[in-house]
Amino acid sequence: MNQEFTLSYQLISSEEKLHAADQQLVTAAKSARNRAYAPYSNYQVGAALRLQNGQLIEGNNQENIAYPSGLCAERVALFYAGANFPNEPIAAICIVVKGSLIAAQNFVSPCGSCRQVMLESESRQEQPIRVLLVQNDGSILILKACRDLLPFGFMK
Ligand code: THU
Repeated sequence: MNQEFTLSYQLISSEEKLHAADQQLVTAAKSARNRAYAPYSNYQVGAALRLQNGQLIEGNNQENIAYPSGLCAERVALFYAGANFPNEPIAAICIVVKGSLIAAQNFVSPCGSCRQVMLESESRQEQPIRVLLVQNDGSILILKACRDLLPFGFMK
């Protein structure tokens, strides 16, 4: 029997068209990205979370001379939230990048390990986390939930 997944997402042409709270989230992600420590890849990534109480949390990629010891922006932000605000649900995550690692015409989206952590952050709080992915052309791809990024995800 053939089955299929359908994925709905929104594509907003520019930041100015977002609601004010989402614009603030993009601004936070950009400011985090500008503080990334990425001397090896020269690919700066910023992630910002908006908690349900409105608080913003920022993370960025942190690299290391021993390459696997570094960590992606999304996980820096999500683990910080998990460590400090474990009971405050995350309403949204925004990711923004700078650098030429990804071809300009390709979609910017989180790596598999970050998707796995996003999925667990979402499932443990039992409510969806909206995902805003700022693309190289300035458009913003919006998903309703992290699980949309990881079909057949490994979860409890
Ligand atoms: N990176 C992130 O921060 N998030 C991702 O989802 C993918 C990759 C970082 C890791 C490394 O510092 C640099 O980008 C190049 O892979």
